Amino acid sequence: MSPSLTEVQEEWQSLELEYQKLQETHKKYLQKLDEISKLQSSCSSSIARHRKRLKEVSRQVNKCTKGSSVDDAKTLADIKEKVKTQENAFSEMDAFLPKKNGLYLNLVLGNVNVTLLSKQSKFAYKDEYEKFKLYLTVILLLFSVICFFFVSYRSMDAIFNFLLVWYYCTLTIRESILITNGSRIKGWWVFHHYISAFLSGVMLTWPDGILYQTFRNQFLAYSFYQNFVQCLQYYYQSGCLYRLRALGERHNMDLTVEGFQSWMWKGLTFLLPFLFFGHFWQLFNSLSLFRMAQLPDCKEWQVRMCGLCFLILFMGNFFTTLAVVRHKMKSRNQKRKSM
Ligand code: COA
Repeated sequence: MSPSLTEVQEEWQSLELEYQKLQETHKKYLQKLDEISKLQSSCSSSIARHRKRLKEVSRQVNKCTKGSSVDDAKTLADIKEKVKTQENAFSEMDAFLPKKNGLYLNLVLGNVNVTLLSKQSKFAYKDEYEKFKLYLTVILLLFSVICFFFVSYRSMDAIFNFLLVWYYCTLTIRESILITNGSRIKGWWVFHHYISAFLSGVMLTWPDGILYQTFRNQFLAYSFYQNFVQCLQYYYQSGCLYRLRALGERHNMDLTVEGFQSWMWKGLTFLLPFLFFGHFWQLFNSLSLFRMAQLPDCKEWQVRMCGLCFLILFMGNFFTTLAVVRHKMKSRNQKRKSM
């Protein structure tokens, strides 16, 4: 049965009414966007101005400290402490303001704003980054098992190494975006992914031959182990993320919430032996490759280059992990003393 003209007219009128409301809401939305962008530029320029003045005050405080009386020194130390607190507050504010991309992001993405403007979207992006790492890790783990046990073709190895290059390049882009959004990822972990991408690229160009075949199984076994450890790392990192989110605080809360601290230490104590074993495997790979490079029939430059990359990875990973643990222990001890 076809609808009558009145029914059609009624439906059209209701649609028109809804359309008008929608237009008004959208107009308001555009106005707010305009307000937001004005607030953003005003905040950014105020912060820049304030930072300059803080620098000037710090300089003056340092000058005054020399030869000051005990009382004056106390006042100056107080000002110094307050300057530090304000500087930290500005770093937190910065995480919610648009900023210019660094050279790498500019080269890869162009001049696009990658600052996420709410805590929820920052969490969601970090969560997605961890999940992305987990999915790719599982795929790479299965790939290394297949190459190790079932398929021994150079072309299959090339696909595996190409996947690794793509994976590490993607990680560097995602990590740069995370850093822009206030993540405290240490520079080394990002640099570690640049080197890993380069290493996989070199492995990709290594021609098939006796030396390649000698190292192949060791490399595949190492890849399997590294991806296994990465899965463990995922459970630790995402556990930290969810607990911090549940507590509603991040960054400066590490020192304040006892429950989180004890969970983190349990996770870390479980993870560290696996991590250190992986680091020493990297050293072992490096030494094996350097020994191979000494052989008279070693003509491939890839042998030395891969050996060097593994050595750099070992040193960076090992010493950065030690520094992270040392820093965490120091913070824990300071907290215990202050209680
Ligand atoms: N890759 C990427 N991000 C990392 C990272 C890594 N290896 N290690 C730490 N981060 C991130 C954290 O997620 C956190 O991010 P957020 O500020 O957005 O929340 C930030 O860096 C600060 O983390 P931090 O508190 O210093 O360390 P942690 O407790 O999260 O992790 C370790 C500590 C030691 C478990 C971790 O650094 C690690 O796994 N390192 C070893 C990596 C390695 O050697 N891999 C090779 C294995 S063979």
